[in-house]
Amino acid sequence: MLRPQLLSRGGVSLARIAAASTRAMATAANVNNGWQRSERKVCIETSKRNFIKQFRLASTSSAAARKTQVVVAAAEPDGAAALLKIHWGDCKTDIYPFIWLRDNCQCPQCFNRYTLSRNILLQDLSRDVHPTAVEVAKDGQGVAVNWSDGHSSVFSASWLLRRAFNSSSRGQRLQEIKLKKILWDSEKMKDLPQANFSDLLANDAALLTFLQEVEQLGLCVVKEAPTRSGELERLTKRIGHLKRTHYGLTFSVKIKTNANNLAYTEKSLNLHVDQPYLESKPGVQLLHCISQCEGHGGDNLLVDSFHVAEKLREMHPGKFKILTDTLVDFYDIGVENGTKFHVINQEPTIQLGISGEIKTVSFNNMVRDSHFGCQPEQTKAWYDAMMSYHDLLADPQYAITYKLLEGDIIVFDNNRVLHGRNGFQMTGGERHLEGCYWDWDEVRSRRRVLLAECGLN
Ligand code: OGA
Ligand code: ZN
Ligand code: ZN
Repeated sequence: MLRPQLLSRGGVSLARIAAASTRAMATAANVNNGWQRSERKVCIETSKRNFIKQFRLASTSSAAARKTQVVVAAAEPDGAAALLKIHWGDCKTDIYPFIWLRDNCQCPQCFNRYTLSRNILLQDLSRDVHPTAVEVAKDGQGVAVNWSDGHSSVFSASWLLRRAFNSSSRGQRLQEIKLKKILWDSEKMKDLPQANFSDLLANDAALLTFLQEVEQLGLCVVKEAPTRSGELERLTKRIGHLKRTHYGLTFSVKIKTNANNLAYTEKSLNLHVDQPYLESKPGVQLLHCISQCEGHGGDNLLVDSFHVAEKLREMHPGKFKILTDTLVDFYDIGVENGTKFHVINQEPTIQLGISGEIKTVSFNNMVRDSHFGCQPEQTKAWYDAMMSYHDLLADPQYAITYKLLEGDIIVFDNNRVLHGRNGFQMTGGERHLEGCYWDWDEVRSRRRVLLAECGLN
């Protein structure tokens, strides 16, 4: 439990610190007038149970506003809720739990800086660990802590700042983990984002922009790829690895006799995500147009299912809830390259994250199983919700149509952007797409590496 009195400054139980320290603080005040108020509250608590100290850090943080930093350490030596409180030079305050600090000691004994992993075993970390002394580090660049378990740690100001438990620092971190999605409808997606195949092979900055677009918008068309098989592998080498599924590392979408997948016919395909029958369905899908059918049909439909789901949430919250709460069975049974497969998975149509945000959509009418765990009395309402969602998804206000040109590679987020195909009739030649998948882990990893290499983070 947090003890508020520890977090407030200048409380009645606080006494003045030694005069010498007060003079040091006055120097800090000259550097930044904003400090004048806080430097007067240089305090140390006299209570036996708790202590509060304020220090001046002569740190040179990269942010100009943070050139002068003052650290206040607030601790409950015997309490579970002990927190270190830091007042930075720009008048901002951050608090850090002591147990987290001990857990994250960066010394070579506790942390392996070659493997970048924690050496401390969980059983060696005491639930009751607390500081016995907290001081400004000798070089003035951080905080030194002596611990109740006899250990000592030093935490640099820059390390602490990057890990601050505040919304702006967490916001930056979330953006590093996953870029914020930009939702779209057909109006906003009038011009599809494009990249050039050769640029992506040769230019890191172009590759980074492309990966960011695929992550934020959920799709991008790569233009002018050579119209031959194998180009997806070349592009993939710039990112990471192909995701293998039971359809192989890459697959050919063309009319096949005894087709084991509806995509390998000339029929229309409803808007769908690929392979929801896998527990970990492919994150990103690529379709490379090697040859396109002439005449009518064969064009693709694309829709931002997250945007449409948000509309459904607004318009019909009850239907939205049904789609988030009902598990749907998906399956795929067949043979590919002589190997039999039988995969089954269950997912809600719309899967929410811990804060109610949409994480993934699993919509595929072709491979939705006839086995269904919905309560019989609620099944009609589920169909109604599903159909309402589909009506919105297919609405031209939200869905776009794009007929791939030969040499195009369409790249899209298979958790989010549903794709479909208008049926076609072959009047000579052949419609041939080559497809493959990537995992989001690899795409995001590459984005972070490129960001660092391009000096942009
Ligand atoms: C697929 C698919 C679309 C197309 O293979 O998964 O949806 O245009 N193909 O053939
Ligand atoms: Zn350590
Ligand atoms: Zn598909």
